[in-house]
Amino acid sequence: MKTIGIAVTDPHDWTGVALCNSVTCSGMKPVMFSFSSATSDVLSGKIHAGKLELSALDAIIVRDLGPAEQNGAALRFDILCQLKDSGVAVINPPEAIARAANKYVSSCLFQKNGIPTPRTVVTGDVDAALGALSSFGRAVVKPVFGYKGIGVECVKNDPRGETKLRMLLEKNGMLYIQEFIRNPGRDIRVFVVDGEVKGSIYRIAPIGSWINNLSQGGNAKVCALTQEQEKIALKAAKVTGTVYAGVDIIEGDRDYVLEINGTPSGKGIFEACGVDVTVGIAEYVFNLV
Ligand SMILES: Nc1ncnc2c1ncn2[C@@H]1O[C@H](COP(=O)(O)OP(=O)(O)O)[C@@H](O)[C@H]1O
Ligand SMILES: [Mg+2]
Repeated sequence: MKTIGIAVTDPHDWTGVALCNSVTCSGMKPVMFSFSSATSDVLSGKIHAGKLELSALDAIIVRDLGPAEQNGAALRFDILCQLKDSGVAVINPPEAIARAANKYVSSCLFQKNGIPTPRTVVTGDVDAALGALSSFGRAVVKPVFGYKGIGVECVKNDPRGETKLRMLLEKNGMLYIQEFIRNPGRDIRVFVVDGEVKGSIYRIAPIGSWINNLSQGGNAKVCALTQEQEKIALKAAKVTGTVYAGVDIIEGDRDYVLEINGTPSGKGIFEACGVDVTVGIAEYVFNLV
């Protein structure tokens, strides 16, 4: 029987538990572990998490690599690449996780592949930052490796906004500045597995907020995608190389892909649509190993 590692931080996380169940239902053996206890011995080439030998697994599904400061995140990622090189199937592939985690890299990929995405500038230069703000009118500044809407800031093109932008630049050294897209108070999360849309929800921001993430108090409602929305979501997943992904789309004067998540939660889609996306992920892994 094939043994499938499921990398989680919280063993009670909905998606992690659902992945375990779906892996079991596909006739494979799931084992949950956390990257926080990953240990790599360079001499022997063996990689463990506690007593579990990660290098002996048939596959690893990465639900989440866990929070870690810069050095820790880089090491966890390198260990994941090492596991892949040693023959363990890793889903999502480490390169895809890296592309999706980096908003600058994914914005460039969207642009290069004709996927509509808001105008975006990355800069360390104050004049270029102020120039972008003035041309966008209103801007969103995001942490380039951010998630769950944390640290996302709206900056207006007025003297207060300029001061805020200068402060953010001073603090961060480089900024990812994006045009604010006027929208109907919601965005769309599309869940893609292996080239297929499995479910999609509107995320509706709480009153007084413009950030639609469910973890920031947004409400989920079933969403029927247009053909265009389905097309750009599938393309975003494809160009980043993600097997499964959560694609964020915002409806402005047209649909724009905001970003892509390579380690998305399946809980919101399950609660709103009754679709368990982990079934498709387990099937994909079953056919792979
Ligand atoms: N350019 C934008 N225009 C309008 N709203 C935005 C824009 N970018 C982000 N948002 C809002 O902020 C939320 C978080 O941004 P997102 O790029 O998805 O980063 P995160 O990785 O933190 O989820 C989005 O779901 C959306 O509600
Ligand atoms: Mg998002």
